[in-house]
Order: sequence, then structure tokens, then C-alpha cells
Amino acid sequence: MITLGIESTAHTLSMGIAKDDKILSNIIDTYSGGNEGLIPRKMADHHTNVFADVLTKALNAAKISIDQIDLIAFSQGPGIGAPLSIGVSAAKYLALKYDKKIIGVNHGYAHVKISEFFCKVKKPLILYISGGNSQILIENRDGFYQVLGETLDIGIGNLFDSFARAIKMEHAHGSALSALAEGGKYVELPYTVKGMNLVFSGLLTAAEKAAQKHSHKDVAYSLMETSFAMTCEVTERALFLTKKKHLVVCGGVAQNRHLQSMLKTMCHEDGIRFGVGPDEYNRDNGAMIAYAGWLQYKKYGQTKLENCVPITNYRIDRMKELLGKF
Ligand code: FE2
Repeated sequence: MITLGIESTAHTLSMGIAKDDKILSNIIDTYSGGNEGLIPRKMADHHTNVFADVLTKALNAAKISIDQIDLIAFSQGPGIGAPLSIGVSAAKYLALKYDKKIIGVNHGYAHVKISEFFCKVKKPLILYISGGNSQILIENRDGFYQVLGETLDIGIGNLFDSFARAIKMEHAHGSALSALAEGGKYVELPYTVKGMNLVFSGLLTAAEKAAQKHSHKDVAYSLMETSFAMTCEVTERALFLTKKKHLVVCGGVAQNRHLQSMLKTMCHEDGIRFGVGPDEYNRDNGAMIAYAGWLQYKKYGQTKLENCVPITNYRIDRMKELLGKF
């Protein structure tokens, strides 16, 4: 089965094509809001403007025509309403125009499944960390995911982006903040974990205040050290509780090499195998939507057209309830 996956939950428009579990192409076009941040309307405009180009490139790279596509999978949420709607509408249009099957995919489920695929592991403990999400997940016997712990306010990626904007970095993004943090010295910042949950907003406020007294490099370093240490602590607690022997980290922030090395050290000390997928598939990408769409289709069939709507707050632990209705 050949699946086209469409990803548009935030600032990235991406399309990927998979033949069963073999990825044939993955084209990614990301909107950068610079220091003004990511304005939903502008993300949606970006996706509209580049949609045809990304689709053409995805088909050409896979060396197939649109007639050969069997299934159109789209990211259904969670996501930001305006850009998310572009991908959902376009998926419905393509499915109707070319008479294709269609399926809505949970964005977090796609991150998890593509990482399990690359790490060649079934049912690990999952740490899913990105701009809007920070969750610890396990797969239950019925194949659906349960949230063991999560951020109680903002996602860890948003913490970094917000701080980068507050100190007026030109490219206000976690990757640029990470480069700035290199070689910094530690300044005291608040550390808040609640069981297996995380709280970041107090840390953000404290870091913004600290940036008025200390160098931006030192505060960036301290912000990343503190939030990563918090993340490692809650993950280690979940590993002990679940007795899992394999940890997989996924999502945009999983690309951070310093966090990877902290998690690797923790796993090594505890006798746990550590896994992380390639960067291209930890970014938001269409190939993961194609792959997860194919997996979901095999188990639950396609999504009825009237249910192909954006669900901005589509938590991974609502999949069972929604697929039951769909
Ligand atoms: Fe994502």
C-alpha cells in the first residue's frame, strides 16, 4: 500500500510517501518566524504558498504519480488551528479529487511509531518532547498509549523558544539557544518536578529575570541544564516504576545532543537500552504521518470523511475514544 502523509500541525509543512513501512520520500519546508515568533495566520499562509511545491517534490523524489497513491494520511492534531486546517482541507480535497482512502493520524502517535520503527523496539518507555509536548508514555495491551507524566504547563521546546524571544535572539529557536549555551556557567534557577510531571513556566520567568543580571550565555546554559535534569529525573522515575528495559526519546527536542548524552548516561547507569531515531524523523515530517497512517489503517480502517476535521487538542490518550467513534 502506498501512503502519502501530510504534516501541518505547526510551522512545518511536510509530505512524505511510504510503501508499507518503506519510506520513499520526505520533503520538509519549515516557516521561520524570526524573532516575532510563530504567528498562526502566517504559518497557514506559508503552508498554502508551498503546498503544491512540496507535494510535487514528494511525488518526484518517490518516483510515483498521484494515481499510484492508495491512502492519504494527514496529521489531525494536536496542533495550532490555522496551519493544521490547511493540511486537513488539502488532504480531503486530494482524497475526493483522486478518489483515495483517507485517514486522520494523531501527531504524537506518529512521532512514537516512527521512532520505535527506527530503534527496532516494541513497547519501550517513550519520552516525547517537542515544542508543545513533553510526555512520558507507555503502550498498553490494547495498543493504545497511556500518559504516565507530562508537563503541567508549557512544552520544553516552547520554554526554549520563549526564552530565546525574551532575550531577543534573531533566530528564536531551541537549536540556536543550544549553540549559545555552549561553554556557559551555571546560575541558580528553580527546579520543579511533581512525581512524573514537569512544570516549566516558573523556570521561564526566573530565567528571564536572571538574564537581566547574568550573561545570556550563562542563563541559556542554566535553563537547558535545569530543564534537562528535570526531564531525566521524571523519566528515570517512570523507568523504575514500569520496570521497562528500553527507553526511546522522540520529538523535536530529542534531536538535542546534550540531552541525548544525559539520557544515555542515565540509561547506562541503570542498565537500560537507549534509543533515538534520525534527526530528520524527529523533526515534524510527513513520512512519519504516512508510516503511522498505514499502521493505523491496517488495524482500524479509514476515517469517515465527516470526521476528517482538525482536533487541536487531540491528546494521544484520546485515540481509543476517537477511533471508536470514527
Ligand atoms: Fe512534532
